[in-house]
Amino acid sequence: MIFPNTIEKSYFIPITFGIHKGLFMEKLVVTGGCGFIGSNFIRMILEKEPTVEVINFDLLTYAGNLANLKDLEKNPRLKFFKGDIANKQDVDAVLKDGVSSVVHFAAESHVDRSILDSGPFIRSNIVGTQVLLDSARAHNIKRFVHVSTDEVYGSLGDTGFFTEDTPLAPNSPYSASKASSDLIVRSYVHTFGFPAMTTRCSNNYGPYQFPEKLIPLFISNLQRNEQVPVYGDGLNVRDWIHVNDHCSGILAVLRKGRVGEVYNLGGKSERTNLELTHALLNNLQKPHSLIRYVKDRPGHDKRYAIDCSKAEKELGWTPTVIFEEGLKHTVEWYLANTDWINSIRTGDYLSYYQKQYGHR
Ligand code: NAD
Ligand code: TYD
Repeated sequence: MIFPNTIEKSYFIPITFGIHKGLFMEKLVVTGGCGFIGSNFIRMILEKEPTVEVINFDLLTYAGNLANLKDLEKNPRLKFFKGDIANKQDVDAVLKDGVSSVVHFAAESHVDRSILDSGPFIRSNIVGTQVLLDSARAHNIKRFVHVSTDEVYGSLGDTGFFTEDTPLAPNSPYSASKASSDLIVRSYVHTFGFPAMTTRCSNNYGPYQFPEKLIPLFISNLQRNEQVPVYGDGLNVRDWIHVNDHCSGILAVLRKGRVGEVYNLGGKSERTNLELTHALLNNLQKPHSLIRYVKDRPGHDKRYAIDCSKAEKELGWTPTVIFEEGLKHTVEWYLANTDWINSIRTGDYLSYYQKQYGHR
C-alpha cells in the first residue's frame, strides 16, 4: 500500500512545523507506530490533541503494518518515515528538525519469537534504544517516554503485585532485552539528566494486535474452526488491559509524568489463560473441544499482576475498560476485519506458525 504521507529516505523532512493556524504545533516522534499499541496511540493523540503533529518512525518489520493506520493516511498531521532505530543515520534524520518529544514503542515484542531467536531482540530493543537515546540527547529532546513491560519484573506466585520498586528479574530473552533498555534509560537520566520516563504495562488486548499473541491468535483460529493451542495446564495468569487504557496512561505520563520516574500501568483484570480461552470460545459460540493443550513455553512465567496506584495517584489515570466488555468489542472488531487478518495469515506468518506449533 502506498502511504501518501511517506517521507522518502532522503534524510530531509519536508514538514513545516511550528505555527499552524495561529496555534503552536508540537512535533512528536512515535517509534513503532505501525505496530499494535503504537498505531492505537497515534490515533488517540491525534484525536485528543489538535496541536500535535506526529512523525511515525517504523522499520516495518513483520509486525509493522501500514494498514493499521489506513484511516489516517490523509491526515496532514501524520507523517511516516521508514527507518531503523538501531541506525544512527535514520534516527538523526528524524530527530533533527525541531522535534520536542518522543514516545518509544519500537521493539521486537513476542516472547515465543525471542525463544526461537534472540538476536533481533538484542539489536532492536537494546542497541536501538541506545542509538535513539544518544540522538535524542544530541537533539535536545524535551520529553521522552520509554514504553516497557511488566515482564521485566519476572514472575509472581499466587499472591502479591509488581510495584515500581520490585527488583528486575526478567526470565525470557524478550523481557531481558526490555529490562536492559529500561536500565539504559535509567542511566541516561542519572548520568546526563536526560528527560525520560518509563512505563511498564501488563498484557494489552484490542484492535490491530498481530495474531501471534494469544487473543488475536485464538480469535482468528476459532473463526476458521481451528484448534487453539493452550500452553501447559493453562493456569498461568496475565493481567489484561485494553490498549486504549494503556495509551491514555502513556499520554498521561508524557504530559504529567515526573522525569526519571517509572510508572506501572495495569488493567486490574487477572485471568488464567484457560478462563480467557473459555471466554473467547463463548463469545464466538464455538465448542470447548477446540482447546488443544500443547507443550509448555520454556521458562513460562506463572503470574503477572500490576499495582498501578502510583500512576493513579500522581497522574489521575486509571484503567476504565471492563474486561468482559473490552473482550466482546475486540472479538467483534476481528470478526468485522477479516481482510486485515487474512492479509497477515500468509507466507511468513504460516512458516512461523508451522515452526512454533508444528502444524497449521
Ligand atoms: P508490535 O510488535 O505490534 O509492534 C512493534 C513495532 O515496532 C512494529 O511496527 C515494528 O515494525 C516496529 N519496529 C521493530 N523494530 C524496529 C526497529 N529496529 N526500528 C524501527 N521500528 C521497529 O508491538 P506492540 O505490542 O505494539 O508493543 C509496542 C511496545 O510496547 C513494545 O516496546 C513492547 O515491549 C511494549 N509493551 C507491549 C505490551 C503488549 O501487551 N503488547 C505490553 C507492555 C509493553
Ligand atoms: P502472549 O500473548 O504471547 O503474551 P506474553 O507471553 O507476553 O504474556 O501470551 C499470553 C499468555 O498466553 C502466556 O501465558 C502464554 C499463553 N499462550 C498460550 O497458551 N498459547 C499461545 O499460543 C500463545 C501465543 C500464548
